[in-house]
Amino acid sequence: MNVILLGPPGAGKGTQAERIVKEYGLVHISTGDMLREAVKNGTELGLKAQEYMTKGALVPDEVVVGIVRDRIAEPDCERGFLLDGFPRTVAQADALDKELASLGKSIDAVINVVVPDEELLNRLTGRRICKSCQRPYHVIFNPPQAEGVCVCGGELYQRADDTIETVRNRLDVYHSQTAPLIDYYNNKGILIDIDGTGSVDAVFEDISEALKARV
Ligand code: AP5
Ligand code: MG
Ligand code: ZN
Repeated sequence: MNVILLGPPGAGKGTQAERIVKEYGLVHISTGDMLREAVKNGTELGLKAQEYMTKGALVPDEVVVGIVRDRIAEPDCERGFLLDGFPRTVAQADALDKELASLGKSIDAVINVVVPDEELLNRLTGRRICKSCQRPYHVIFNPPQAEGVCVCGGELYQRADDTIETVRNRLDVYHSQTAPLIDYYNNKGILIDIDGTGSVDAVFEDISEALKARV
């Protein structure tokens, strides 16, 4: 099973991805996590991506498409993968279609997690992330068991793009460049809308039910 997790910044893609990949044995492919790793390591890719990411803008399509193309061709992806944060433009979706066709693969379902903007602002400005395993927490909605520490023992930090101004910009970018993908995948008959405003458990249950009905 190959699945796309679609949704605005803060919808809970990363939070749900962690559970979905565990339940279905999928490979988690988060372009955001991969780009942040590249920034942290100061690679050529990271240097290129950083200027866009800190502003809350999208990294150019050809850069991101290249990363995903390499990743989905790796052998572990044979067991199925979950794309988190990709595609984010119609051009990326078209490139993905072409790449999958050449590999003899396809997308089985697109989970569209729906959450209103005002809730997203609250979620993102209170988010904390684990430095080691990238697991997201929230100071109020999803606090860690021990303050500042992940279940894996890693240290929590606040993402550089989780400031009010940058979050507003990311939401604008989402509405203008990414939201058109809702129609794009609806027209292909593989879109599943999920209400993302319930508890983390409730949202996961809805996603699980929808995926079970598909496979
Ligand atoms: P990326 O890392 O993909 O960020 P994003 O799409 O903005 O999404 P987030 O990771 O911020 O949110 P999420 O949906 O994962 O929510 P989470 O589970 O953490 O991209 C970052 C940047 O990289 C982009 O701006 C761009 O520059 C670049 N980039 C990445 N991919 C790209 C691409 N394909 N093309 C071009 N550029 C690209 O949850 C959020 C918070 O809410 C957490 O605190 C969590 O604990 C809490 N929460 C989660 N679920 C619930 C719930 N049900 N109730 C209450 N709180 C909840
Ligand atoms: Mg995320
Ligand atoms: Zn961790």
